[in-house]
Amino acid sequence: MPKTKLSSQINNLNLFANAELASVHVAGQMASLIRAGKKEGKPTVLGLATGQTPITVYQELVRLHKNEGLSFANVISFNLDEYYPICSRDKQSYSYFMHQYLFKHIDIKPHNIFIPHVDCPVDHISKYCEAYDQKIASYGGIDLQLLGIGRNGHIGFNEPGTSFDAPTRLVNLHPVTREDAQTDFGSIDRVPHQAISIGIDTIARAKKILLLALGERKSEIVHKALKGDITTEVPASILRTLPHAEYILDMKAAALIRE
Ligand code: PGA
Repeated sequence: MPKTKLSSQINNLNLFANAELASVHVAGQMASLIRAGKKEGKPTVLGLATGQTPITVYQELVRLHKNEGLSFANVISFNLDEYYPICSRDKQSYSYFMHQYLFKHIDIKPHNIFIPHVDCPVDHISKYCEAYDQKIASYGGIDLQLLGIGRNGHIGFNEPGTSFDAPTRLVNLHPVTREDAQTDFGSIDRVPHQAISIGIDTIARAKKILLLALGERKSEIVHKALKGDITTEVPASILRTLPHAEYILDMKAAALIRE
């Protein structure tokens, strides 16, 4: 019995017994969309996330590709964010992450992969970010946006205080975000202070949004985002205003909203 309907007060909420079942559900939704696109001869535009949360989703997509013939030949992908500055070959970069966990195992075309990575000086970044949003729009927008949630409620690197109409831009990372990244970088001093993040507005324009939250360490922020005020202090809370946003949680992440 993997799925349990929780509360009628929170729309589009799906609770799963464990993280693996939740992840397989997300991968299944992505796969269905890709297959439907292929049938119609249309590309599928995916918005992809990084971090611990989507790893099992990507492992399942790789399995579907290898064992069940799921092809990514008609997929265009846009990643949510990337540290700035960072070299895309660095193990902490999200370019490296995406290649390790997904891209190198599937048949996505390299020219269809977009990650907001910049090598340009700071004063050229806003043009780069504008072009990133335009590129997404040129493909007709994102069909399905996968999101994790930070312990501070961020989606992408849209940190607390971000205006809900923010576009893609250079952002300053919140202390909690940097603290959570220090294991990857080896020490807090090595964690970049900035990143490029697609905006909340860019996310909200996606035709479907899946927010995946797993594990006990997300239970507090899940409670705030789903039951607290809708406020820029908790960027994920905006999703409650979007009928096309769905929350996929494991029991541990949902612990406080079930009380
Ligand atoms: P995590 O990060 O998946 O590593 O917990 C999620 C996020 O910060 O969006």
